[in-house]
Amino acid sequence: MPTLDQSYVTKGSWRPDLFKGKVAFVTGGAGSICKVQTEALILLGANAAIVGRNKEKTDAAAKELEGLRPGAKVVSLSNIDVRDVKQLTEAANKAVQELGRIDFVIAGAAGNFLSDFTHLSSNAFSSVVNIDLIGSFNTVKACFEQLKKNKGAIIFVSATLHYYGVPYQIHVGAAKAGVDALSNALATELGPLGIRSNCIAPGPIADTEGMSRLAPGVIDQVASKVPVQRLGSKQDIADATVYLFSPAGNFVNGEILVVDGGAWHIGQGIAGAGYPVNVKRNQESKTFKL
Ligand code: HXC
Repeated sequence: MPTLDQSYVTKGSWRPDLFKGKVAFVTGGAGSICKVQTEALILLGANAAIVGRNKEKTDAAAKELEGLRPGAKVVSLSNIDVRDVKQLTEAANKAVQELGRIDFVIAGAAGNFLSDFTHLSSNAFSSVVNIDLIGSFNTVKACFEQLKKNKGAIIFVSATLHYYGVPYQIHVGAAKAGVDALSNALATELGPLGIRSNCIAPGPIADTEGMSRLAPGVIDQVASKVPVQRLGSKQDIADATVYLFSPAGNFVNGEILVVDGGAWHIGQGIAGAGYPVNVKRNQESKTFKL
């Protein structure tokens, strides 16, 4: 006697309208990776509110997302800085006013640039930690009542940089290590309320702001070092998102899902090619920053 039957297809996670009636709240939703995560949710029936700093960019992304499915509603929440919990709370309230509820939260807003320690000021370090880590905490704070009411789920967009010591990424590595810790602890505290918390850790993903900022001019070299011999696609991250929010992911909580083609196991990171010559050159320059 099989355990599964046709309802696995018609009522399970592999059906159209999977997320009908659900609402996603996505920080960084106009950005390269999080927009495609949101596209998948919309195509599968959800509505969404996307949060960003830049009004034009956020409005344009919301309009595009809304066009993906007849009847879809996407709210643009712009001029919001995730470092300010009050602004985020107002954004979450507006999302509920316009869309009725919040079921899924993606904390994806992030900041990054390449800098070695000698040129990374204390303010620069804390800017990134404040956006990536404190901003993620603030996002859950702002959405907590809705998550509790709707037994929702959270996905943090993390990274693999802190699994080993990646030069030029002290700030992001420290912030994302904190994001993983935040998610793991929330998984244990909020699990009894019916809320699941997980991370997705993308590896090198093609056509993203992250790749163009972090690996300008060496993208082909990066791809050749990935065990599966390609960069990831934004759809790879969207598929992981659908899995974690779907009933198929219902028992997955406190997990860090690495979607990187096996890249971090190679351990050379984005700086492999120039190491240690570039690092030494930077340390010797006369522009040490406090
Ligand atoms: C050294 C830099 C720098 C650089 C900025 N800073 N860029 N230091 N090298 N290239 C310093 C500034 O000099 C300043 O320090 C401090 O950072 C804050 O900068 P501001 O511009 O005043 O702050 P803010 O407007 O808050 O900007 C935040 C930011 C910026 C993170 C610094 O880059 C930003 O807004 N980025 C948003 C978009 C983004 O980064 N997206 C990438 C996502 S990709 P001083 O000392 O001068 O005051 C991603 C992938 C992660 O996150 C995972 C990878 C695998």
